[in-house]
Amino acid sequence: MDFELTEEHLMIQKAARDFAQNELLPGVIDRDENKTFPAEQIRQLGKLGFMGMMVDPKYGGGGMDTISYVIAMEELCKIDASTGVIMSVNNSLVCWGLEAFGTEEQKEKYLVPLAKGDKLGAFCLSEPEAGSDATQQRTTAIDKGDYYLVNGTKNWITNAGNGSIYLVMAQTDVSKGHKGINTLIIEKDSEGVTLGPPENKLGIRGSDTHSIMFSDVKVAKKNRIGEDGFGFKFAMKTLEGGRIGIAAQALGIAAGAYELSLQYSKERKTFGEPISNHQAIQFKLADMATEIELSRLLCYKAAWLKDQHESYALASSMAKLFASETAMRTSIEAVQIHGGYGYVKEYHVERMMRDAKITQIYEGTSEIQRIVISRGILK
Ligand code: CAA
Repeated sequence: MDFELTEEHLMIQKAARDFAQNELLPGVIDRDENKTFPAEQIRQLGKLGFMGMMVDPKYGGGGMDTISYVIAMEELCKIDASTGVIMSVNNSLVCWGLEAFGTEEQKEKYLVPLAKGDKLGAFCLSEPEAGSDATQQRTTAIDKGDYYLVNGTKNWITNAGNGSIYLVMAQTDVSKGHKGINTLIIEKDSEGVTLGPPENKLGIRGSDTHSIMFSDVKVAKKNRIGEDGFGFKFAMKTLEGGRIGIAAQALGIAAGAYELSLQYSKERKTFGEPISNHQAIQFKLADMATEIELSRLLCYKAAWLKDQHESYALASSMAKLFASETAMRTSIEAVQIHGGYGYVKEYHVERMMRDAKITQIYEGTSEIQRIVISRGILK
């Protein structure tokens, strides 16, 4: 067992850290306040190879391993979790799914621009009545011979506005339950696709989230991913890796809030000495550091298993569960350590507290992760 990062991992960590400091930090408060999508930053991340980090270079990707992805996500999300989720959805939920299960034609047409960062993708599973219970898809994809006719609504879709390639899960044959679901590649500018207004969210406000309405959208059969009825399994397999990305996002939020708190505790004085001299603060910092270290180890373990082509569903759910709960606890404590300063925007930790909450909700709530984990250990 080796806990050391490789030279390559350290280089990626430095590149991500420098990018976060130089390109993400300057406008992060403003983007949060004004719900501004970090378009230029995403373009630059594409140039760095971070929008398709794990994709084979022959499809325009960075050819890096999943541990590199976790490292980059942590560093970026220490500063800006909105940029992190945009990157994570493109990498884990869109590029990975296409590379693993797409046809050569689909990869050439869609994966290459997505992996290069020239285009952005979205993963469209959630619906007004199908969130946690994802088998209950109401969106339909009726088989019309050489095309599907798609009707329905998807909710809370990350990258819906700035993305142009959607992976959409829809029910083709209700009588088959989840085995009647297909995943289709739908381009945003297809006739019959419309967007709802941007959601006004508590956190990750720099990322764009919309509902998407599909009204008699014709989708060529060649845009289906996998065999007929593979759509639900596609979603589940893809989410296994997505949860590593969100775990790493949560890890980054927690680590960012902790680093700011550590620094602040050495500068801020009460009762004649730095607050870091008070045991009440020391114990908070000790808990934060310990939980962050545990989260990081869980993320690395899940990423390592994926890179070894071993089963990682359990590990990714454990990482997401623990890291997201750590992000929430740590960011709340970070606000507490900062006192009144923590409650205003300039000190960043209030944003981190708001951003942390979604990591316990999307790509499966904490309750869903516990279902996956308990099924895994009891089977
Ligand atoms: N890999 C492959 N197949 C899987 C699988 C996996 N990881 N998990 C389940 N399946 C298969 C099962 O084997 C089963 O197939 P068979 O009938 O052939 O055996 C089928 O899928 C149905 O599985 P279950 O009976 O276990 O389904 P369930 O309804 O009991 O529960 C669940 C499954 C884990 C709760 C699932 O519904 C789930 O993960 N829900 C949460 C959905 C989610 O994460 N949504 C997030 C939205 S995406 C998002 O947030 C993106 C974003 O924009 C940030």
